Amino acid sequence: MSEAAFTALTAAADPAMVVVTTAAEGEQAGCLVGFHSQSSISPAHYSVWLSKANHTYRVGLRATHFAIHFPTVEDLDLAERFGTLSGDDPEKFSGLETRAGEGGVPLLESCPHRMLLERITMLDDGGDHVVVTGTVVSAHSSGSLVPLRLSHVAHLRAGHDSEERAIRP
Ligand SMILES: Cc1cc2nc3c(=O)[nH]c(=O)nc-3n(C[C@H](O)[C@H](O)[C@H](O)COP(=O)(O)O)c2cc1C
Repeated sequence: MSEAAFTALTAAADPAMVVVTTAAEGEQAGCLVGFHSQSSISPAHYSVWLSKANHTYRVGLRATHFAIHFPTVEDLDLAERFGTLSGDDPEKFSGLETRAGEGGVPLLESCPHRMLLERITMLDDGGDHVVVTGTVVSAHSSGSLVPLRLSHVAHLRAGHDSEERAIRP
């Protein structure tokens, strides 16, 4: 397999980025995600792929709900916070205005473009990410949405390298 061609093809797609948040047993989590997609029209389903290295994955294993926020080109700071800090760092949510959605999921008040998922399943196909599929239980979008794309954030250094993979205690 040509890794260069694979990288060129995936970069050319230049996906919109999302910030996924979740919670379980009072613990909040969230990270920047480039791997995500609508996965059914009726019923409406949406899927996100979480790195096994991430705190968000570890909390997501026990979570029932996930919020998918669509940042705009103005939200580079938010993307940097969620893409480079780890939830292992207590600063991740500090200073952010949030409110609890279903399942205690933190909804980011600064991000009015979002949907809330109720988890259907989580599938591990042996890769370094797992897919979480969900039913869309609500969706909100107000104002213009010029999405923040991979090309805007490709310079960021992820808080957890996907090669870490290890599940920490
Ligand atoms: C451009 C970019 C794309 C990313 N895409 C994903 C992704 O699709 N899925 C994922 O789980 N993490 C992705 N990450 C990594 C996480 O956002 C990052 O490691 C984060 O710090 C993890 O935080 P956590 O440990 O609190 O969950 C991406 C990071 C960057 C910079």
